[in-house]
Amino acid sequence: MQAYFAKLQKALGAAGLAEPVLLIDRRKLDENIKQLKHMLPRNMAYRIVAKSLPCAPLLAHIAKAAKTDRVMSFNREMSRQLLTALPRADQLLGKPLPVAAAADLFDALPAVKGKQAAKRIQWLIDTPQRLKQYEALAKKLGLKLRINFEVDVGLHRGGLMPGDTLETALRFLAASEHLILAGYLGYEPHLTKIPTLDGWRSRAKKGAQKAYGQALRQGRAHFSAAHIETMVRNMAGSPTFGLYKNTELANELAAGSALVKPSDFDMPILKDFEAAAFIATPALKISDELAIAAWEYGENIVGRPQKGTGIFIHGGYWMANPIWPKGLKTSPLFGRSSNQEFLEGPKKTPLKVDDFVFLRPTQSEAIFLQFPKIAIFDGRRICDIWQPLSVSA
Ligand SMILES: Cc1ncc(COP(=O)(O)O)c(C=O)c1O
Repeated sequence: MQAYFAKLQKALGAAGLAEPVLLIDRRKLDENIKQLKHMLPRNMAYRIVAKSLPCAPLLAHIAKAAKTDRVMSFNREMSRQLLTALPRADQLLGKPLPVAAAADLFDALPAVKGKQAAKRIQWLIDTPQRLKQYEALAKKLGLKLRINFEVDVGLHRGGLMPGDTLETALRFLAASEHLILAGYLGYEPHLTKIPTLDGWRSRAKKGAQKAYGQALRQGRAHFSAAHIETMVRNMAGSPTFGLYKNTELANELAAGSALVKPSDFDMPILKDFEAAAFIATPALKISDELAIAAWEYGENIVGRPQKGTGIFIHGGYWMANPIWPKGLKTSPLFGRSSNQEFLEGPKKTPLKVDDFVFLRPTQSEAIFLQFPKIAIFDGRRICDIWQPLSVSA
């Protein structure tokens, strides 16, 4: 660990970096990609969750290494930027967008690009009402829009319930000249999170399979068996893609976060993945005692300075925890700061002023967007500086 962070320290200095930066270890990322591919069942396609890795060159790198041209985008601006950055990619929206946002995307594109967008994007639809709105948009644009049905398989984050609601949507879509059924999406991250107690989790798992299976059967009543077999049948996310053993229900699995493994993803099912993204930020000030503001005026109301290291870092208040040097933590006395956060450390520290402190993000989607520079470490040096997508999370 010490040798690893010493190498990173040196590489950052050699690259002339002296401000907070997001760091990706490309070798660890590549190992994670291999591990993910290794865990996928035969013939299972992989879709990259772009919101969890929101950086165009990073997505292009993963697409190439994982041999996939499928991405999941999450808002109008992300879709627009990905149409340019990955022009051949198939985009599946990971959440349903108000039809006005979809209309805006087409408005922002020249006509030829609009046709391309219609071919490339699958719009996620969660209600029969929204389906009608998208049909009206398709009619107005004179384009056929590709529709993917969000199926509620137990997460209860909305979506079409197999049964009457899905039936209404399927019937409407089958009769529409302006819409195409491109697939289903059944997201189920709860399946590795809810307690196993009294068989709760295993019943939820069976229930999710049953619901998706029923949705496929209902689909076959309106479309050919071949259509339902070959359309995109998306499921999963980082916490659950490892549960799939064959392509009977899903024929593609989505995952993003696992490839950089922020700490929220320290879960048994991802034990073979390594943390590959860190925040590195300079220690601006280091003192060998922990003194709180105005202690000397406290007239014994507060204690005298304690032994320990007090470090003010450049920036802070990220969704991240310090990991190097060891033993650093935020202080309840000082509180948090986005400008110069105070970290409390052990009595001795190897750290010198302007050295980097390393933090491990708890999640990637919002964190990546907060850093204008993403430094790529190839094991020896910083070999590239990438930029995040300019989108909201
Ligand atoms: C629809 C959908 N699929 C998949 C994912 C999985 O993303 P990750 O692998 O980063 O957890 C998400 C995350 O929110 C999602 O909303």
